[in-house]
Amino acid sequence: MITEELIFATLGEKGFEQLTKAFYRRVREDELIGPMYPDQDWAGAEERLREFLLFRFGAVTRYLEKRGHPRLRARHMPFRIGIAERDRWVLLMGEATEEVVADAGVRDALMEFFAQVADFLRNTPEEGE
Ligand code: HEM
Repeated sequence: MITEELIFATLGEKGFEQLTKAFYRRVREDELIGPMYPDQDWAGAEERLREFLLFRFGAVTRYLEKRGHPRLRARHMPFRIGIAERDRWVLLMGEATEEVVADAGVRDALMEFFAQVADFLRNTPEEGE
C-alpha cells in the first residue's frame, strides 16, 4: 500500500516544490481557472499549495503557522467550482505529476487524493443536480 509517508519519502520537499511549480505554470496559462487566481501573487499561491501539501503528506507545520487550519471548503467558496473547474484542476495536476513524479504507483496515489479533494471542493451545483 502506498502511504502518505511513502509519498513524502519519494518526493521530498524538493519534489513537492517541483510539482507545485509545474502545476502553476499550467494554471497561469489556463483560460478557465487561471483568471480565478490572484494575478499579483502567483508566488504566494504556489507557496500556499506547496506548504499545504508538505503539511498533509509530511506533517511539516509551516502552512499551519502561517494560515491556521486549512478550511479548504470555506477558502474555496469565493470561487465558482463546478464539474468543469474541478476537472480542469485535476487535469492540470495530472500533467504536472506526469512531468515530476517518476513512480507510477505514487503518481496514482497522489492523483486519487487530488481528485477526492477537488470533488469535495465543488460548490456550484450543475443543472439537474
Ligand atoms: C477543484 C478545483 C480548484 C480550484 C478551481 C481551486 C482554486 C483555488 C484558488 C483560486 C485559490 C486562491 C489562490 C491563493 O492561494 O491565493 C486556491 C487556494 C488554495 N487551494 Fe485550490 N482550487 C481547487 C482545488 C484544490 C485542491 C484539490 C486542493 C488541495 C488538494 C487545493 C488547495 C488549495 C490551497 C491549500 C489553497 C490556499 C488556501 C489558503 O491558505 O488560503 N485546491 N484554490
